[in-house]
Amino acid sequence: MTDWHIKRLSGHCGARLTGVRIAEAREAELDALRAALFEYGVVVLPDQNLTPDEHIRLAKHFGPIDINRFFTPVPDHPMIAEVRTRADQSRVIGGTWHTDHSYDPAPAMCSILSAQQIPPYGGDTHFASMSAACAALSGGLRKTLEGLSAWHSDSTFANSKVGIKASKEAHRDPALHPVLIRHPVTGAQAVYVNGDFTTHFDGWTPEESAPLLDYLYRFVTQPIFTCRLVWEEGMVAIWDNRLVQHYATADYQGHTRLMHRITVQGVPLTG
Ligand code: SIN
Repeated sequence: MTDWHIKRLSGHCGARLTGVRIAEAREAELDALRAALFEYGVVVLPDQNLTPDEHIRLAKHFGPIDINRFFTPVPDHPMIAEVRTRADQSRVIGGTWHTDHSYDPAPAMCSILSAQQIPPYGGDTHFASMSAACAALSGGLRKTLEGLSAWHSDSTFANSKVGIKASKEAHRDPALHPVLIRHPVTGAQAVYVNGDFTTHFDGWTPEESAPLLDYLYRFVTQPIFTCRLVWEEGMVAIWDNRLVQHYATADYQGHTRLMHRITVQGVPLTG
């Protein structure tokens, strides 16, 4: 028995969990939170107001912290990345559909975003269920994709226009993942290619890959597979990068937005 109250955000992903302050949660409540994450892909927790230390403790419940090598760390808290939009910026970090850290051989399991300063309007985050999208593929396309792997690269960060200044040493070799993965815990099948980091199918040229990849990006982000998170002060969101892609909306120019993000280590992915 736990004190969580769970309300779904949409038919295919997202749930809002209330009733427990995570910093004071019992083991059973943290386990239920983890189960909800695997069921809904993203969980949204209002009124948490986590301190950096509480944020770090929560992340460690899910696994070791995977420090992002491109983002600016929060002062005095190198394990936490800053996702900051200045008032004069029109582009934002994460402003296109993507999966965090897919360029790594063992991509991040989950990301935990803690709202520090939100704009007076806008700045919502959209999520799309990659398992619902996978289930909706035709049998023929699914069969084709089951035989494919794709390369993912961190090269996007080399020309970033959103305040990410990566040193040359931060970049690593591309990583290869199956196009359709199995969730490492539940076994759910999900599409695992994204427009920010996937470069091409293994054995295909980028030019040959582009038409099918473009089709997949359009297919998997159809509104029916998504939910929309409207941020509140003190809110925390946790998403499973193997189950959802996300998109940060850049519609609040003239205002500041600051989030703290921790990513948790994942495992190599299999099909
Ligand atoms: C991200 O892409 O991790 C940031 C999402 C957001 O700021 O809403």
